[in-house]
Amino acid sequence: LQILVVHGPNLNLLGSREPKHYGRVTLEEIDRSLVSRAEAAGALVETFQHNHEGALIDRIHQAARDRVDFIIINPAAYTHTSVALRDALAASAIPFIEIHLSNIFAREAFRQHSYFSDLAIGVISGLGAQGYELALEHALRHFQDRTP
Ligand code: DQA
Repeated sequence: LQILVVHGPNLNLLGSREPKHYGRVTLEEIDRSLVSRAEAAGALVETFQHNHEGALIDRIHQAARDRVDFIIINPAAYTHTSVALRDALAASAIPFIEIHLSNIFAREAFRQHSYFSDLAIGVISGLGAQGYELALEHALRHFQDRTP
């Protein structure tokens, strides 16, 4: 079971970036805990952060070529702007969960529309770093249920 975790722009700054919205946990801490949880379950997690739209799109294309089973993605600001990243996920046909650390519905109006949510299996918003962990548990269970 191969899972890709994708983090969009500015998420490399987690830990110090607007802690009132995004908490104090660093991206490295989030990634490390996902990798070790997956390992314990016999799954493989790879993580990828980039600030450029094209690099994120290229990474999704690669995931499709690598036959990645599942994607957990926080598209960050591209959530609200990127038809191109949406199209890359649609083209990949890889099931995905959309994550936001903050509750995007409790913030500015421009954050309340996502180009991803209608394609996602589900959306977790507002649970901080725990959102990633819960998404991973879902992915693990999803595939456990499918193995005979
Ligand atoms: C975010 C919410 C977005 O609106 C914002 O642009 C981000 C992070 C979140 O995790 O809460 O960069 O995706």
